[in-house]
Amino acid sequence: MNNKKTAIVLGASGLVGNELVKTLIQRNHYNKIQLLVRRPIENFESTICEQRTVDFDQLQTYPELFQVTDVFCCLGTTIKKTKSKEAFRKVDYDYPVEAAKLALKGRAEKFLIVSAMGADSESRFFYNRVKGDIEKSLKTLDFPSLHIFRPSLLLGERKEFRFGEKLGAKASGLLNTIMIGPMRPYKAIEAKNVAKAMASVAESDSNGVFTYSSQEIERIANQK
Ligand SMILES: NC(=O)c1ccc[n+]([C@@H]2O[C@H](COP(=O)([O-])OP(=O)(O)OC[C@H]3O[C@@H](n4cnc5c(N)ncnc54)[C@H](OP(=O)(O)O)[C@@H]3O)[C@@H](O)[C@H]2O)c1
Repeated sequence: MNNKKTAIVLGASGLVGNELVKTLIQRNHYNKIQLLVRRPIENFESTICEQRTVDFDQLQTYPELFQVTDVFCCLGTTIKKTKSKEAFRKVDYDYPVEAAKLALKGRAEKFLIVSAMGADSESRFFYNRVKGDIEKSLKTLDFPSLHIFRPSLLLGERKEFRFGEKLGAKASGLLNTIMIGPMRPYKAIEAKNVAKAMASVAESDSNGVFTYSSQEIERIANQK
C-alpha cells in the first residue's frame, strides 16, 4: 500500500458510490478517504473514511478537501427527483466540473467519473446530452489522468424505489441471458462491478484520458 494516497468520493450515498466506498475500504489502497455528502450517511463507520458534510453549491469554499491524489465522482440524479432540467444539470454537470477544477488546483492526479452509456453532447436526449457535456468539459481541463465510465443500466439494491429502472432491471435480468452478439454492449451491469473497475483503474499508473464502455467496465471488474 502506498501510504501517501488519499481520495475523496462524491456521491458516496448512491448505488455506485456506496459500492465504491465498500470496495475502496476492502482494497486498502488509500490511507484516507473523505466522503463529501450533503447529509451524513447513517450507520456508517470506518477507520479510513471520514464524512464531510458540504454545501454542493459552495464547493469552492472547501479547497482543502480537494487536496487529494484521486477524486471519484458518482454523483447523479433524475429529473423525476429534481423536477427541472436546470436542477438536474446542476448535479450531473455543474458539481462534477467544479469538483474537477478544485481537484486540479489541489494537485489531484486522477479524476474518475461515472457517466453513462450513450453520453453525447449532440444527442437529442437531454440526459445523454448532459452526460456528453460533462465528459467534454472534463476533457478540456487537462487532468493528468481522467477516467470516464459509461455503464449501461445499473443493477443493484437501491434504498429508493425507481419504477422505470426496477422494470428495466427485471427485463434486463431476463434479457441479459440472451444479450449476445450485437446486443452485448447493452447488457445491464451490476453497480458493484462499476465500483470494482473504478477502484482497479485508480490503482493503475495510467496517464491520459480513458473512456470505458459497459463491456470494458465488466471486463476490468472481472480481472481481479
Ligand atoms: N441508474 C442507472 O441505471 C444508470 C445507468 C448509467 C449511468 N448512470 C449514472 O451513474 C451515476 C451513479 O448512478 P447511481 O444510480 O449510483 O446514482 P444514485 O444512487 O442516484 O446516487 C446519486 C448520488 O448523488 C448524490 N446527489 C444527488 N443529488 C444531489 C445533490 N443535489 N447534491 C449533492 N449530492 C447529490 C446522492 O446523494 P443523496 O443520497 O444525498 O441524494 C447520491 O450520493 C449517475 O451519474 C447516473 O446518471 C446511472
